[in-house]
Amino acid sequence: MLRMLMFGKPGAGKGTLSGRLVKKYDIVSLSTGDLLRMHINDRTEVGRMAEEIVAQGGLVPDELMLQVVTSKLDRLHNKHWILDGFPRTFAQGELLNTHLNKQNTPLSLVVNLDVPDDIILSRISDRWVHLPSGRVYNLSYNPPKVEGFDDETGEPLTKRPDDNPEIFARRLEKFYSTTSPLLDFYARLSQAHVSTPPHLSGTTSDEIWPELERVLKDTFPGLKERAESADARRRHSLSDAIASASMNATISK
Ligand code: AP5
Ligand code: MG
Repeated sequence: MLRMLMFGKPGAGKGTLSGRLVKKYDIVSLSTGDLLRMHINDRTEVGRMAEEIVAQGGLVPDELMLQVVTSKLDRLHNKHWILDGFPRTFAQGELLNTHLNKQNTPLSLVVNLDVPDDIILSRISDRWVHLPSGRVYNLSYNPPKVEGFDDETGEPLTKRPDDNPEIFARRLEKFYSTTSPLLDFYARLSQAHVSTPPHLSGTTSDEIWPELERVLKDTFPGLKERAESADARRRHSLSDAIASASMNATISK
């Protein structure tokens, strides 16, 4: 089974690429940032504890995060999954490892998205999110069909309160000081069972996407595309064929 970590700086495109994979393949994704934002929105106990920390670009305590993640992960036994935003500290990495090994469901892939800081900074001011689903938009890269509203539900999009330049700089700093050393942890682990984290680098997710798909297909050749996704492609190729046949017919008239 695919049990994958999507690793990368804030704003690297973890949510965007996980969303694409989920749309195309039979995979579910879990973003700890999205989960926390839902808790905050619903005013749960976790949400009340996390709100100020998230707003300031800090890290929520490890034990609380493990509780948030495992309560969801434990329901995904027979599914392919991607974890986005967890772990972010050594302690989280070790807690996750112990938890998964106990259930005999170790990680099977770790991917690191490597995007330059200046590119990331320029994207953030343009980001809009649909809070209930975690869908991400960007006014220049992937704008919603109707400005300000989610494509699927028509509900309003919002700005994340931690997306201002000052807080974002703090999040990036935290990534370098606390989260990026985890890559060594996973490189060491790779000698045991996870393949060495591939560094997928590029300035746009369109450069990274084909690389990511290739890694996934090479590692998990049996991964199934969603029926509707294969169907949509067939429909497209069919309509392309019809369009080109009618064009040929017009040309030959
Ligand atoms: P979280 O929500 O996980 O934030 P993050 O890691 O900082 O990552 P982002 O969601 O900001 O970026 P992303 O990589 O998903 O990029 P995206 O696809 O949106 O966490 C938020 C907070 O929660 C943390 O700061 C912390 O406080 C707390 N937290 C979460 N997990 C925790 C943990 N484990 N422990 C402790 N605390 C935790 O893309 C970014 C933008 O770029 C979008 O606008 C997108 O449209 C655009 N974009 C994407 N691809 C392209 C492209 N190719 N070209 C142009 N624009 C693009
Ligand atoms: Mg995200």
